[in-house]
Order: sequence, then C-alpha cells, then structure tokens
Amino acid sequence: MYSTLFRLVLAKLDPERAHHLAFVVIRALPALGLSGLARRFTAADPSLAVDALGLRFESPFGVAAGFDKDGEGVLGLGALGFGHVEVGTITAIPQPGNDKPRLFRLIPDRAVINRMGFNNRGAGVAADRLLRVLRSRRRPVLGVNIGKSRVVAVEDATADYLTSARALAPVADYLVVNVSSPNTPGLRGLQELDLLAPLLTAVKEVAGEKPLLVKIAPDLTDAQVQRIAELVVRLGLAGIIATNTTISREGLRTDPARVEAAGAGGLSGAPLAARSLEVLKLIRATVPPELCVISVGGVETAEDVQERLDAGATLVQGYTAFLYRGPLWARQINRGLLRLRRALVEA
Ligand SMILES: Cc1cc2nc3c(=O)[nH]c(=O)nc-3n(C[C@H](O)[C@H](O)[C@H](O)COP(=O)(O)O)c2cc1C
Repeated sequence: MYSTLFRLVLAKLDPERAHHLAFVVIRALPALGLSGLARRFTAADPSLAVDALGLRFESPFGVAAGFDKDGEGVLGLGALGFGHVEVGTITAIPQPGNDKPRLFRLIPDRAVINRMGFNNRGAGVAADRLLRVLRSRRRPVLGVNIGKSRVVAVEDATADYLTSARALAPVADYLVVNVSSPNTPGLRGLQELDLLAPLLTAVKEVAGEKPLLVKIAPDLTDAQVQRIAELVVRLGLAGIIATNTTISREGLRTDPARVEAAGAGGLSGAPLAARSLEVLKLIRATVPPELCVISVGGVETAEDVQERLDAGATLVQGYTAFLYRGPLWARQINRGLLRLRRALVEA
C-alpha cells in the first residue's frame, strides 16, 4: 500500500516537503494520544531487546541522525517501533542549513543525496525539549548527535563541541561526536588523529558518565578506520557509529545527468550498504567485543539488519529506506528479525 502511495503521491512531491509532511504526522502521534495504540501494534518482541551502553534497547534497530534534527519526534518515532532515536546533528549555534533544494531522490538506486548542512535550532532549544522527552514514561533510548557550528572555524571546533556537549550530555542517554558529514566545510578533516584525539578527550571529560561515541565516514581508508577504532579504545569511549553518507557516486543506476544535477552532498541508501558492512567488519576486527559498534548505511530489510548483527554490530540504524518504505518500516524490521530467529531455532 505504501509503495503505491509513494509512487503516486510522495515521489512527486519535493523530497524535503514530503519529509516535513511525514514528520508532522509522526510528531502528532503522542499529542493525539495515539502513541499507546501505535505501540501496541508496533512493539518489538521482548526477545529482541539489547543491553548496551548500560541501557536497555527494546529493539536493536533505531533511527539514524538527521531524521529528527531537533528532537521533536522522539516519542512518535518510538511509537513506530524504533528502539532508539538519535537526534541531531545539533550545533551550539542555531543555523538554517544550506539553501534549498538540498535533498534529492535517486529512485532507481533507492538512495538520496543530501546537503542539508546541519539545519537545527541549536543546543539550547534542543536541551529544553529533550529534558521533557527524558521525563516521559514510555520512550525509546535517546541518542544526541553533535556537530560543529558552520560559522565557527575548524581551529575553534573543540570549544564549539564542548558548548553543545555541556548543554546536551545531561539530556542524552548517549552522546555522539559527528565528524563525518560532508556538508560542513572542514568537518571531516577532524577525523585526522591529531585533531580527533584532543577533541574526543575534551568532549569525554564534559560528557562524564554519559556514553560517548564517534560517528565516522565511509570514505576513510581501511587504515584510517582501524586507527580511529584503536583511538576510541585507547581513549575509553563507549563506541563507534559507522557510517555517515558517502561522497562517492560510483556504481549508481540513476541517470548520470540526474546525479550530476543533484550536485554536491552525501549519498545514502542502498549503494552505501557494501562499504558500510565492510567498515563494520574492519572495526569489529579491531576493537574488543564489549565495545558498542552501531552499524548504519543502506540497511533496508530485517535480513540486512540481521546481517549487520551477525557481522558484529551491537545495534543498527537506518534513515534512507524509511523514506522509501514508510511508517511501518521499523515494525516490519522487528517482525522480520523475530521470524528469522524463530526459523533459525526451528532449523
Ligand atoms: C537527509 C539526511 C540528513 C542527514 N543528516 C545527518 C546529520 O545531521 N547527522 C549525521 O550524523 N548523519 C546524518 N545523516 C546520515 C545518516 O544518519 C546515516 O548515517 C546515513 O544516511 C546512512 O544511513 P542510510 O543509508 O540508512 O540512510 C543524514 C542522512 C540523510 C539522508
């Protein structure tokens, strides 16, 4: 049903507008008193629960950063069956993001290109809102992803991250330092070890007891991925999220003229899956089993999620396939995971 609605209506709308409309509905679920009802329909089977980062996740599957930039839809997304919601990226200074259009569908690839540019209302506004979320009785695990404000020079990035970390660590279940989005000039350069080590050390100190993770790009070399994984272990961080969107445009089926017309930005969705899985395996081979590794990139089905878990992911996230598969996506994943596990037991 959703695929027909997508083909006939949503695919014809501007992608950012379609996202906005869907988000209005998701946000409205709790306000309309429909969360409880939705949850009864979507709740993950208790056998799917995962204990990680000192927290209980009702499902291993969550929403990746970027879908809920300001933390406005956490309860609604939880009601749809996601075990965690990573809000953000949030910056210390509010910012409008890049000019529109900045989100483009590549339908033959089940992918999108985005150059949103961290549009968000800033850490202060988010902190007030997330404090209320934190107090609600039935809620998913809440991750908060922070990034550098665009107007701040790369040399001053640490102080800027610290402003966000001070405001947001107290209202997060876990905190993520994002150094991997391609749409903020200079940001991905922070993945260089001599810049990353002092940044993560400083944020970790401010985060205190809150689990701290770092989110990395798929465009790093294998050696860079391994060195960052070693650094994460050395600094005593709680985990790694891999991966963000890619700047690569290789192997796409979409008409090259259309890809070219979309312009700069990060590519996500199905074409990212292979590299994301590869990076997960590299990290898992480098870090101890207790380190939390969250795999994200190109996941579409329960089989994909199970594949990531089998390859060593502690948790799995997704974003782009949500746009293509619609509001029942998390429910489908949770049901599918249960089916796969039952089939394994019966075999
Ligand atoms: C429109 C859009 C906006 C995004 N914004 C952010 C962001 O603000 N911060 C971040 O860390 N990742 C962001 N991402 C990346 C996703 O969190 C995820 O890492 C990436 O899309 C790969 O997962 P997917 O293939 O399931 O979409 C964004 C992705 C999309 C499609």
